[in-house]
Amino acid sequence: MSAPVVAQSRAIQAFHPFIKLNRLLADVPAGPSPAPDGEPVKLQVGEPQMAPPALIAETMARATGWNRYPPPRGTAEYRNAAHGWLARRYGRGADLIDPETQILPVPGSREGLFFAALASVGGERDTILLPNPFYHVYAGAAVAAGARPVFVPATAETGFQPAYDRLDAATLDRTALAFVNSPANPQGSVADTAMLARSIALARRHDFAIALDECYAEIHDGTLPPGALEAALELGGGTANMLVVHSLSKRSSAPGLRCGFIAGDPRWLDPLDAALRVGGAGVPLPVLAAGAALWQDEAHVAANRARYRENFAVAERVLGDLQPNVRPAAGFFLWLDVGDGEAAAVKLWREAGIRVLPGAYMSVPDAAGDNPGGREIRVALVHPPDQTEAALTRLRAVLEPELRNARNETTADGAA
Ligand SMILES: Cc1ncc(COP(=O)(O)O)c(C=O)c1O
Repeated sequence: MSAPVVAQSRAIQAFHPFIKLNRLLADVPAGPSPAPDGEPVKLQVGEPQMAPPALIAETMARATGWNRYPPPRGTAEYRNAAHGWLARRYGRGADLIDPETQILPVPGSREGLFFAALASVGGERDTILLPNPFYHVYAGAAVAAGARPVFVPATAETGFQPAYDRLDAATLDRTALAFVNSPANPQGSVADTAMLARSIALARRHDFAIALDECYAEIHDGTLPPGALEAALELGGGTANMLVVHSLSKRSSAPGLRCGFIAGDPRWLDPLDAALRVGGAGVPLPVLAAGAALWQDEAHVAANRARYRENFAVAERVLGDLQPNVRPAAGFFLWLDVGDGEAAAVKLWREAGIRVLPGAYMSVPDAAGDNPGGREIRVALVHPPDQTEAALTRLRAVLEPELRNARNETTADGAA
Protein backbone atom coordinates (compact mmCIF):
# COMPACT_ATOMS: atom_id res chain seq x y z
CA MET A 1 0.00 0.00 0.00
CA SER A 2 1.17 3.57 -0.53
CA ALA A 3 2.43 5.12 2.67
CA PRO A 4 0.18 7.01 5.07
CA VAL A 5 0.76 10.73 5.31
CA VAL A 6 0.49 13.39 8.00
CA ALA A 7 -1.27 16.53 6.79
CA GLN A 8 0.77 19.68 6.73
CA SER A 9 -2.13 22.06 7.04
CA ARG A 10 -3.50 23.04 10.40
CA ALA A 11 -6.42 25.01 8.93
CA ILE A 12 -9.90 23.55 9.12
CA GLN A 13 -10.91 25.18 5.85
CA ALA A 14 -8.05 23.35 4.13
CA PHE A 15 -10.19 20.24 4.33
CA HIS A 16 -13.59 21.70 3.58
CA PRO A 17 -14.64 20.42 0.15
CA PHE A 18 -17.45 22.89 -0.45
CA ILE A 19 -15.34 25.92 0.41
CA LYS A 20 -12.80 24.67 -2.13
CA LEU A 21 -15.49 23.95 -4.71
CA ASN A 22 -17.02 27.41 -4.32
CA ARG A 23 -13.59 28.89 -4.88
CA LEU A 24 -12.97 26.70 -7.94
CA LEU A 25 -16.22 27.72 -9.62
CA ALA A 26 -16.48 31.31 -8.37
CA ASP A 27 -15.54 32.85 -11.70
CA VAL A 28 -16.93 30.17 -13.96
CA PRO A 29 -20.36 30.99 -15.37
CA ALA A 30 -22.91 28.18 -15.14
CA GLY A 31 -23.94 26.62 -18.44
CA PRO A 32 -27.55 25.83 -19.42
CA SER A 33 -28.85 23.34 -16.89
CA PRO A 34 -30.95 20.27 -17.76
CA ALA A 35 -33.45 21.13 -14.99
CA PRO A 36 -36.91 22.19 -16.27
CA ASP A 37 -36.64 25.43 -14.25
CA GLY A 38 -33.17 26.10 -15.63
CA GLU A 39 -31.67 26.23 -12.13
CA PRO A 40 -28.20 24.72 -11.60
CA VAL A 41 -28.30 21.06 -10.58
CA LYS A 42 -26.73 20.35 -7.21
CA LEU A 43 -25.13 16.93 -7.31
CA GLN A 44 -22.22 17.90 -5.08
CA VAL A 45 -23.84 17.53 -1.67
CA GLY A 46 -25.04 14.33 0.00
CA GLU A 47 -28.28 15.97 1.03
CA PRO A 48 -31.30 13.73 0.42
CA GLN A 49 -33.88 15.58 -1.66
CA MET A 50 -36.73 13.10 -1.14
CA ALA A 51 -39.65 14.47 0.82
CA PRO A 52 -39.05 13.86 4.53
CA PRO A 53 -41.45 11.37 6.14
CA ALA A 54 -44.80 12.80 7.30
CA LEU A 55 -44.07 11.26 10.70
CA ILE A 56 -41.78 14.19 11.50
CA ALA A 57 -44.43 16.89 11.12
CA GLU A 58 -47.07 14.74 12.81
CA THR A 59 -44.91 14.01 15.84
CA MET A 60 -43.53 17.53 16.16
CA ALA A 61 -47.04 19.00 16.07
CA ARG A 62 -47.92 17.02 19.19
CA ALA A 63 -44.57 17.33 20.98
CA THR A 64 -43.84 19.61 23.90
CA GLY A 65 -40.62 20.73 25.47
CA TRP A 66 -39.39 23.76 23.55
CA ASN A 67 -39.26 25.54 26.91
CA ARG A 68 -36.69 23.07 28.21
CA TYR A 69 -32.99 22.69 27.53
CA PRO A 70 -32.32 19.49 25.63
CA PRO A 71 -31.55 16.73 28.18
CA PRO A 72 -27.97 15.60 27.38
CA ARG A 73 -28.81 11.91 27.50
CA GLY A 74 -32.13 12.39 25.74
CA THR A 75 -35.23 10.54 26.85
CA ALA A 76 -35.81 6.87 27.66
CA GLU A 77 -38.26 6.84 24.74
CA TYR A 78 -35.55 7.99 22.31
CA ARG A 79 -32.84 5.71 23.66
CA ASN A 80 -35.16 2.70 23.59
CA ALA A 81 -36.30 3.49 20.05
CA ALA A 82 -32.68 3.76 18.91
CA HIS A 83 -31.85 0.53 20.72
CA GLY A 84 -34.87 -1.22 19.19
CA TRP A 85 -33.60 -0.23 15.76
CA LEU A 86 -30.09 -1.51 16.59
CA ALA A 87 -31.69 -4.84 17.57
CA ARG A 88 -33.70 -5.04 14.32
CA ARG A 89 -30.70 -4.07 12.23
CA TYR A 90 -27.85 -5.88 14.02
CA GLY A 91 -29.61 -8.64 15.93
CA ARG A 92 -27.77 -9.78 19.04
CA GLY A 93 -25.09 -7.17 18.42
CA ALA A 94 -27.50 -4.77 20.10
CA ASP A 95 -27.24 -6.83 23.31
CA LEU A 96 -23.81 -5.25 23.79
CA ILE A 97 -25.48 -1.86 24.34
CA ASP A 98 -27.33 -0.88 27.50
CA PRO A 99 -29.87 1.69 26.31
CA GLU A 100 -29.84 3.40 29.69
CA THR A 101 -26.12 4.18 29.84
CA GLN A 102 -24.59 3.55 26.42
CA ILE A 103 -26.67 5.60 24.01
CA LEU A 104 -26.02 9.29 23.62
CA PRO A 105 -28.24 11.37 21.34
CA VAL A 106 -26.35 13.76 19.07
CA PRO A 107 -27.71 16.43 16.72
CA GLY A 108 -26.18 14.52 13.83
CA SER A 109 -23.29 12.19 13.27
CA ARG A 110 -21.20 15.21 12.25
CA GLU A 111 -21.42 16.75 15.71
CA GLY A 112 -20.80 13.41 17.40
CA LEU A 113 -17.72 12.71 15.30
CA PHE A 114 -16.34 16.20 15.83
CA PHE A 115 -16.77 16.10 19.59
CA ALA A 116 -15.39 12.56 19.74
CA ALA A 117 -12.11 14.01 18.50
CA LEU A 118 -12.15 16.85 21.03
CA ALA A 119 -12.96 14.44 23.84
CA SER A 120 -10.34 11.83 23.07
CA VAL A 121 -7.14 13.72 22.22
CA GLY A 122 -4.75 14.59 25.03
CA GLY A 123 -1.34 13.95 26.56
CA GLU A 124 0.70 11.43 24.60
CA ARG A 125 -2.37 10.50 22.59
CA ASP A 126 -1.99 13.18 19.93
CA THR A 127 -2.80 11.27 16.75
CA ILE A 128 -6.03 10.69 14.85
CA LEU A 129 -6.26 8.08 12.09
CA LEU A 130 -8.52 8.61 9.14
CA PRO A 131 -9.05 7.09 5.73
CA ASN A 132 -7.85 8.79 2.56
CA PRO A 133 -10.21 9.75 0.83
CA PHE A 134 -12.28 10.84 3.83
CA TYR A 135 -15.41 12.61 5.00
CA HIS A 136 -14.03 16.08 5.66
CA VAL A 137 -15.28 16.32 9.24
CA TYR A 138 -12.75 13.68 10.32
CA ALA A 139 -9.88 15.90 9.20
CA GLY A 140 -11.45 19.12 10.43
CA ALA A 141 -12.12 17.55 13.82
CA ALA A 142 -8.55 16.31 14.07
CA VAL A 143 -7.23 19.79 13.32
CA ALA A 144 -9.66 21.43 15.75
CA ALA A 145 -8.59 19.01 18.47
CA GLY A 146 -4.95 19.97 17.86
CA ALA A 147 -4.18 16.40 16.84
CA ARG A 148 -1.83 15.00 14.25
CA PRO A 149 -4.06 13.59 11.49
CA VAL A 150 -2.59 10.49 9.85
CA PHE A 151 -4.26 9.76 6.51
CA VAL A 152 -4.27 6.06 5.69
CA PRO A 153 -4.87 4.93 2.09
CA ALA A 154 -8.36 3.63 1.39
CA THR A 155 -7.76 2.59 -2.19
CA ALA A 156 -8.60 -0.39 -4.40
CA GLU A 157 -5.77 -2.37 -2.87
CA THR A 158 -7.45 -2.39 0.54
CA GLY A 159 -11.06 -2.56 -0.65
CA PHE A 160 -11.36 1.25 -0.33
CA GLN A 161 -11.16 0.94 3.45
CA PRO A 162 -8.13 1.92 5.57
CA ALA A 163 -5.91 -0.95 6.77
CA TYR A 164 -4.93 0.57 10.11
CA ASP A 165 -3.30 -2.69 11.14
CA ARG A 166 -0.48 -1.96 8.69
CA LEU A 167 0.61 1.11 10.66
CA ASP A 168 3.67 0.95 12.87
CA ALA A 169 3.29 0.37 16.60
CA ALA A 170 4.72 3.79 17.50
CA THR A 171 1.95 5.54 15.55
CA LEU A 172 -0.73 3.27 16.98
CA ASP A 173 0.50 3.87 20.53
CA ARG A 174 0.13 7.63 19.98
CA THR A 175 -3.35 7.26 18.54
CA ALA A 176 -6.28 8.77 20.42
CA LEU A 177 -8.99 8.00 17.90
CA ALA A 178 -9.45 6.23 14.57
CA PHE A 179 -12.30 6.88 12.18
CA VAL A 180 -13.80 4.03 10.20
CA ASN A 181 -16.58 4.76 7.73
CA SER A 182 -18.61 1.88 6.37
CA PRO A 183 -20.44 2.23 4.05
CA ALA A 184 -17.90 4.85 3.07
CA ASN A 185 -18.31 8.32 1.75
CA PRO A 186 -17.22 8.83 -1.03
CA GLN A 187 -16.55 5.39 -2.53
CA GLY A 188 -19.53 3.47 -1.13
CA SER A 189 -17.22 0.65 -0.01
CA VAL A 190 -18.33 -1.69 2.75
CA ALA A 191 -15.98 -3.17 5.34
CA ASP A 192 -16.67 -6.86 5.95
CA THR A 193 -17.09 -8.23 9.45
CA ALA A 194 -13.51 -9.51 9.54
CA MET A 195 -12.11 -6.09 8.66
CA LEU A 196 -14.30 -4.39 11.25
CA ALA A 197 -13.21 -6.94 13.86
CA ARG A 198 -9.54 -6.40 12.98
CA SER A 199 -9.89 -2.65 13.43
CA ILE A 200 -11.69 -3.02 16.74
CA ALA A 201 -9.13 -5.53 18.01
CA LEU A 202 -6.33 -3.17 16.97
CA ALA A 203 -7.93 -0.29 18.88
CA ARG A 204 -8.09 -2.48 21.96
CA ARG A 205 -4.51 -3.68 21.62
CA HIS A 206 -3.20 -0.12 21.40
CA ASP A 207 -5.95 1.28 23.61
CA PHE A 208 -7.35 4.00 21.39
CA ALA A 209 -10.98 4.75 20.62
CA ILE A 210 -12.45 3.73 17.31
CA ALA A 211 -15.38 5.72 15.94
CA LEU A 212 -17.34 3.60 13.46
CA ASP A 213 -19.37 5.96 11.34
CA GLU A 214 -22.26 3.91 9.96
CA CYS A 215 -24.57 6.72 8.89
CA TYR A 216 -25.08 5.08 5.45
CA ALA A 217 -25.94 1.69 6.98
CA GLU A 218 -29.49 1.80 5.64
CA ILE A 219 -28.68 2.91 2.10
CA HIS A 220 -28.03 -0.42 0.43
CA ASP A 221 -29.46 -2.57 -2.33
CA GLY A 222 -30.69 -5.49 -0.28
CA THR A 223 -27.32 -6.77 0.91
CA LEU A 224 -27.03 -5.47 4.45
CA PRO A 225 -23.68 -3.83 5.17
CA PRO A 226 -22.34 -5.56 8.29
CA GLY A 227 -22.17 -3.45 11.42
CA ALA A 228 -19.46 -2.96 14.00
CA LEU A 229 -21.71 -4.33 16.73
CA GLU A 230 -22.00 -7.60 14.81
CA ALA A 231 -18.22 -7.73 14.50
CA ALA A 232 -17.84 -6.96 18.21
CA LEU A 233 -20.27 -9.71 19.10
CA GLU A 234 -18.13 -12.24 17.23
CA LEU A 235 -14.95 -10.81 18.71
CA GLY A 236 -16.07 -10.78 22.35
CA GLY A 237 -15.10 -8.05 24.79
CA GLY A 238 -18.35 -6.08 24.62
CA THR A 239 -18.07 -2.57 23.23
CA ALA A 240 -14.61 -1.89 24.63
CA ASN A 241 -12.93 1.02 22.80
CA MET A 242 -15.82 1.39 20.34
CA LEU A 243 -18.18 4.20 19.46
CA VAL A 244 -20.77 3.44 16.76
CA VAL A 245 -22.27 6.45 15.08
CA HIS A 246 -25.75 6.59 13.54
CA SER A 247 -28.00 9.26 12.12
CA LEU A 248 -31.44 9.87 10.69
CA SER A 249 -30.08 12.22 8.04
CA LYS A 250 -29.63 9.55 5.38
CA ARG A 251 -31.87 6.80 6.77
CA SER A 252 -34.91 9.08 6.96
CA SER A 253 -33.96 11.77 4.43
CA ALA A 254 -34.00 14.22 7.33
CA PRO A 255 -30.64 16.01 7.50
CA GLY A 256 -32.41 19.15 8.71
CA LEU A 257 -33.80 17.41 11.76
CA ARG A 258 -30.30 17.07 13.24
CA CYS A 259 -30.87 13.83 15.06
CA GLY A 260 -28.69 10.77 15.58
CA PHE A 261 -26.92 8.87 18.32
CA ILE A 262 -23.61 7.43 19.38
CA ALA A 263 -23.48 4.15 21.25
CA GLY A 264 -20.58 2.35 22.82
CA ASP A 265 -17.93 2.22 25.48
CA PRO A 266 -18.72 4.51 28.45
CA ARG A 267 -14.99 5.13 28.82
CA TRP A 268 -15.22 7.30 25.71
CA LEU A 269 -18.94 7.97 25.63
CA ASP A 270 -18.98 9.74 29.00
CA PRO A 271 -16.22 12.26 28.13
CA LEU A 272 -17.95 12.81 24.81
CA ASP A 273 -21.17 13.55 26.68
CA ALA A 274 -19.23 16.04 28.85
CA ALA A 275 -17.75 17.74 25.77
CA LEU A 276 -21.19 18.05 24.19
CA ARG A 277 -22.55 19.56 27.41
CA VAL A 278 -19.87 22.23 27.14
CA GLY A 279 -20.10 23.06 23.45
CA GLY A 280 -22.93 21.14 21.85
CA ALA A 281 -26.44 22.24 21.04
CA GLY A 282 -28.11 19.06 22.28
CA VAL A 283 -31.16 17.49 20.70
CA PRO A 284 -34.38 19.32 21.67
CA LEU A 285 -37.20 17.28 23.20
CA PRO A 286 -39.60 17.65 20.23
CA VAL A 287 -36.80 16.51 17.90
CA LEU A 288 -36.13 13.52 20.16
CA ALA A 289 -39.83 12.64 19.94
CA ALA A 290 -39.75 12.79 16.14
CA GLY A 291 -36.48 10.86 16.13
CA ALA A 292 -37.98 8.13 18.30
CA ALA A 293 -40.88 7.77 15.87
CA LEU A 294 -38.49 7.55 12.91
CA TRP A 295 -36.20 4.93 14.48
CA GLN A 296 -39.28 2.77 15.07
CA ASP A 297 -40.57 3.00 11.51
CA GLU A 298 -39.17 0.97 8.62
CA ALA A 299 -41.73 1.75 5.91
CA HIS A 300 -40.31 5.14 4.99
CA VAL A 301 -36.78 3.72 4.98
CA ALA A 302 -37.77 0.97 2.56
CA ALA A 303 -39.37 3.60 0.32
CA ASN A 304 -36.16 5.67 0.42
CA ARG A 305 -34.10 2.65 -0.47
CA ALA A 306 -36.35 1.92 -3.42
CA ARG A 307 -35.75 5.47 -4.72
CA TYR A 308 -31.99 5.06 -4.46
CA ARG A 309 -32.24 1.68 -6.17
CA GLU A 310 -34.07 3.37 -9.05
CA ASN A 311 -31.39 6.05 -9.18
CA PHE A 312 -28.64 3.47 -9.46
CA ALA A 313 -30.58 1.63 -12.15
CA VAL A 314 -30.67 4.94 -14.02
CA ALA A 315 -26.92 5.43 -13.48
CA GLU A 316 -26.17 1.95 -14.79
CA ARG A 317 -28.35 2.50 -17.81
CA VAL A 318 -26.87 5.92 -18.63
CA LEU A 319 -23.21 5.41 -17.69
CA GLY A 320 -22.69 1.68 -17.31
CA ASP A 321 -21.04 1.15 -20.69
CA LEU A 322 -18.47 3.85 -19.92
CA GLN A 323 -17.53 2.93 -16.35
CA PRO A 324 -17.24 -0.67 -15.20
CA ASN A 325 -18.17 -0.12 -11.55
CA VAL A 326 -20.86 2.51 -11.55
CA ARG A 327 -22.83 0.97 -8.69
CA PRO A 328 -21.11 1.13 -5.31
CA ALA A 329 -21.64 -1.52 -2.62
CA ALA A 330 -23.80 0.95 -0.66
CA GLY A 331 -24.49 4.64 -0.07
CA PHE A 332 -25.82 7.10 -2.62
CA PHE A 333 -22.76 8.45 -4.40
CA LEU A 334 -21.28 7.72 -7.79
CA TRP A 335 -17.48 7.84 -7.66
CA LEU A 336 -16.57 8.26 -11.29
CA ASP A 337 -13.11 8.06 -12.78
CA VAL A 338 -12.76 10.99 -15.17
CA GLY A 339 -8.97 11.25 -15.27
CA ASP A 340 -8.86 14.73 -13.71
CA GLY A 341 -11.74 15.36 -11.30
CA GLU A 342 -11.13 19.08 -10.92
CA ALA A 343 -11.07 19.73 -14.67
CA ALA A 344 -14.20 17.63 -15.14
CA ALA A 345 -16.08 19.53 -12.39
CA VAL A 346 -15.25 22.85 -14.05
CA LYS A 347 -16.26 21.59 -17.49
CA LEU A 348 -19.55 20.18 -16.21
CA TRP A 349 -20.41 23.43 -14.49
CA ARG A 350 -19.46 25.59 -17.45
CA GLU A 351 -21.24 23.47 -20.06
CA ALA A 352 -24.22 22.10 -18.15
CA GLY A 353 -24.75 24.00 -14.90
CA ILE A 354 -24.20 20.75 -12.98
CA ARG A 355 -22.21 20.92 -9.76
CA VAL A 356 -20.24 17.88 -8.66
CA LEU A 357 -17.37 17.48 -6.22
CA PRO A 358 -13.81 16.81 -7.40
CA GLY A 359 -12.59 13.72 -5.57
CA ALA A 360 -9.35 15.51 -4.73
CA TYR A 361 -11.31 17.74 -2.34
CA MET A 362 -12.00 14.70 -0.19
CA SER A 363 -8.46 13.44 -0.06
CA VAL A 364 -4.86 14.52 0.38
CA PRO A 365 -1.81 13.52 -1.68
CA ASP A 366 -0.07 10.42 -0.37
CA ALA A 367 3.61 10.19 0.50
CA ALA A 368 4.47 9.81 -3.20
CA GLY A 369 2.48 12.95 -4.06
CA ASP A 370 -0.43 11.06 -5.66
CA ASN A 371 -3.89 12.15 -4.65
CA PRO A 372 -6.06 9.02 -4.32
CA GLY A 373 -9.17 11.02 -5.27
CA GLY A 374 -7.53 13.06 -8.00
CA ARG A 375 -9.04 11.13 -10.91
CA GLU A 376 -12.60 11.06 -9.58
CA ILE A 377 -15.70 13.16 -9.23
CA ARG A 378 -18.31 12.43 -6.58
CA VAL A 379 -21.89 12.63 -7.81
CA ALA A 380 -24.71 12.53 -5.25
CA LEU A 381 -27.76 10.61 -6.48
CA VAL A 382 -30.07 12.33 -4.03
CA HIS A 383 -32.71 13.70 -6.38
CA PRO A 384 -35.83 11.87 -7.57
CA PRO A 385 -35.11 9.38 -10.39
CA ASP A 386 -36.51 11.53 -13.24
CA GLN A 387 -34.26 14.45 -12.25
CA THR A 388 -31.35 12.08 -11.76
CA GLU A 389 -31.87 10.69 -15.25
CA ALA A 390 -31.95 14.14 -16.85
CA ALA A 391 -28.82 15.21 -14.96
CA LEU A 392 -26.83 12.04 -15.69
CA THR A 393 -27.80 12.07 -19.35
CA ARG A 394 -26.44 15.60 -19.60
CA LEU A 395 -23.38 14.67 -17.56
CA ARG A 396 -22.69 11.87 -20.01
CA ALA A 397 -23.07 14.18 -22.98
CA VAL A 398 -20.48 16.56 -21.51
CA LEU A 399 -18.02 14.11 -19.98
CA GLU A 400 -18.21 11.12 -22.32
CA PRO A 401 -14.61 11.46 -23.54
CA GLU A 402 -13.31 11.70 -19.98
CA LEU A 403 -15.41 8.76 -18.75
CA ARG A 404 -14.39 6.64 -21.72
CA ASN A 405 -10.72 7.53 -21.59
CA ALA A 406 -10.52 6.95 -17.89
CA ARG A 407 -11.73 3.41 -18.34
CA ASN A 408 -9.30 2.76 -21.15
CA GLU A 409 -6.38 4.20 -19.21
CA THR A 410 -7.07 2.21 -16.09
CA THR A 411 -7.73 -0.96 -18.06
CA ALA A 412 -4.47 -0.51 -19.95
CA ASP A 413 -2.80 -0.03 -16.57
CA GLY A 414 -4.21 -3.28 -15.33
CA ALA A 415 -5.54 -1.28 -12.40
CA ALA A 416 -9.24 -1.34 -13.21
C1 LIG B 1 -19.58 9.78 6.23
C2 LIG B 1 -20.48 10.79 6.83
N1 LIG B 1 -20.56 10.87 8.16
C3 LIG B 1 -21.35 11.77 8.75
C4 LIG B 1 -22.11 12.65 8.02
C5 LIG B 1 -22.91 13.69 8.75
O1 LIG B 1 -24.25 13.48 8.68
P1 LIG B 1 -25.21 14.03 9.79
O2 LIG B 1 -24.44 14.94 10.69
O3 LIG B 1 -26.28 14.76 9.09
O4 LIG B 1 -25.69 12.82 10.53
C6 LIG B 1 -22.06 12.62 6.64
C7 LIG B 1 -22.87 13.58 5.85
O5 LIG B 1 -22.74 13.72 4.68
C8 LIG B 1 -21.23 11.66 6.03
O6 LIG B 1 -21.14 11.58 4.70
